[in-house]
Amino acid sequence: MRANIISIWTGRAGRILKAVLVMLLAFDLCLPARATQVMVVSDLHYMARELYEGSELFLRALRAGDGKITQYGDALMAALCEEVVRQRPDALLVTGDLAFNGEKASHEALARWFARIEASDIPVWVMPGNHDINVSTARRFDGDGWEYTQTVSPEEFREIYRDYMSPEADGAAANLSYVAKVSDRLWVAMTDAAFYQGEAQAFGLFTADHAAWLERVMREAGDAELITASHHSLLPQTEFSRDSYVMLGNETMLALDRTYGVRLHLSGHLHVQHIASRDGVMDAALGAFCTWPHRYALVTRREDGSLEYEAKSLDGALLPGGFLQMSKAWFSDIAKAKARASLPEGTENIEMLADYAARFNLAYFAGTYRSDDPSWREDPAYALWQQQADNPFWQYMRLVMDEPNADNLHRKIP
Ligand SMILES: [Fe+2]
Repeated sequence: MRANIISIWTGRAGRILKAVLVMLLAFDLCLPARATQVMVVSDLHYMARELYEGSELFLRALRAGDGKITQYGDALMAALCEEVVRQRPDALLVTGDLAFNGEKASHEALARWFARIEASDIPVWVMPGNHDINVSTARRFDGDGWEYTQTVSPEEFREIYRDYMSPEADGAAANLSYVAKVSDRLWVAMTDAAFYQGEAQAFGLFTADHAAWLERVMREAGDAELITASHHSLLPQTEFSRDSYVMLGNETMLALDRTYGVRLHLSGHLHVQHIASRDGVMDAALGAFCTWPHRYALVTRREDGSLEYEAKSLDGALLPGGFLQMSKAWFSDIAKAKARASLPEGTENIEMLADYAARFNLAYFAGTYRSDDPSWREDPAYALWQQQADNPFWQYMRLVMDEPNADNLHRKIP
């Protein structure tokens, strides 16, 4: 038997076998070493069904809102779970505003969705936003009425999401900040700069305690790539979003990022898909998951040291038939109504103006508006809007148009 094996190995069949083995080995050596990839979502604003089911008042409130399609939160979460399992990232990061408005029941239901993702061996890491903890206006809707419902304290938040935060998130000096150690090569400093002491506030605050915690993390990270993340923006994304969207104390955090070579910061809060860069640090504000086109991002750290950020949107095939068109129309109708309401009654061509404003607003929020696209200024409605100099909707559009908006979806950092 042994002689037979030797003769096969040294014979023609053996030579072919050896050639195949050498080819396989060479192919393996040519493959890039495994990259680390995280998937990011933000501003889910998920609401437990029992808090709104069958309520006309809730739908009216959403129609007067900012495009959230919260009444389909379960369909969106089901699609997200499928998308995560299909992409198989090394982790899913959620950068705050998990609940619609801080309801305890919403957090508990959302934690069950995250359990479905972790059942596929993909870790989920969450942080709170300004709509998650100590929200005094958390409501339950019923028919045409509503009542206040229970929100969560920082301790309850930590308890509900204990499987999706590190025990390091102890609510001490740096709130619920912790490090998501995605791999040996990639750490994410989940920086909780939301302000909810007493009662939730819209602003974020990066304190001296946050700075001390973050600097310790940066030292510990060693050779691992460190990405920072917070709910509020690190950098001003646009002129109209300076107030309350950028965390207070951002310059301190930016200085730390620069000192320790952090190249990428992840944020949400703005609901607009937008990227800003300063001094070698890029802040990618992720569009809200709860509004069309239902953004998420993939961040890839390759072995050659490069980082890639790519904003994507949920695949319509994972959603009920026609969902994306319906969700777009929902957002568009809300924007049109706001534009109409901003114009004096009897304004000529009001529908043309409203339609333009809605198209502009949706493109801007989706991160697809580009200031180098001449069609926006060539549109006949543009000239009509120019006659509305004092109109707040026009002033918002002007501000955006006057800023450089190029590719807000994709960046590669070599
Ligand atoms: Fe939000």
